[in-house]
Amino acid sequence: MPLVLSEKADSLPLLSRTPHAWGHAVLADPIALLIDHAFLEKKAAFNAMELMTRWPGEWVPGWVEIMTRVARDEAAHLAQVVKILVSRGGHLGRLHKCQYATDLRELVRKGETGDTLDRLLVSALIEARSCERFSVLAEVARELNDPELAAFYKALFSSEHGHYKVFLRLGYKTMDKAAVDRRWNQLLIAEAKVLANQTPGSRIHSGYSQP
Ligand SMILES: [Fe+2]
Ligand SMILES: [Fe+2]
Repeated sequence: MPLVLSEKADSLPLLSRTPHAWGHAVLADPIALLIDHAFLEKKAAFNAMELMTRWPGEWVPGWVEIMTRVARDEAAHLAQVVKILVSRGGHLGRLHKCQYATDLRELVRKGETGDTLDRLLVSALIEARSCERFSVLAEVARELNDPELAAFYKALFSSEHGHYKVFLRLGYKTMDKAAVDRRWNQLLIAEAKVLANQTPGSRIHSGYSQP
């Protein structure tokens, strides 16, 4: 079945695109990639749980339900990644570092009025970039005759795309549109720089050598 993910990924507002060669490089070590991915899902679940009680200034209807749903989705993704990882002979370690997310979270204006907005926009960016990466991974996994991973990444694309839109939409509920537009554009530029500064390796948000 032909993939239509690349077109959907192209419509994301991200300011840089991941080359196909990155997918081949990271899928050279699928176990390492799956381990990194599992920790990513764990972190995403934790992030949603944290955001659950961090509504902006006043109560936003549906906020807790949305965060509960996202946390549940991420925990389900974690279980799926771990299942594939274990079936391929890998296992989860205790420690993990995700420099990309750490670098992005440093952009959050802590303690200021924009704190919650920034957390939501950074969450939206991580979801959007994950989508973009999953579209490349789905295509490359298919080329490598790994239908399990190809189907898995394709399914995750849809779920994370939904999360990206949810976080962005909630961001627009925290402040006036012009202020959110301004901050979103700043963070889109910052995200492309943060990603470009990541080291290469079999990780979902790793860097790649520019041709
Ligand atoms: Fe996820
Ligand atoms: Fe997500």
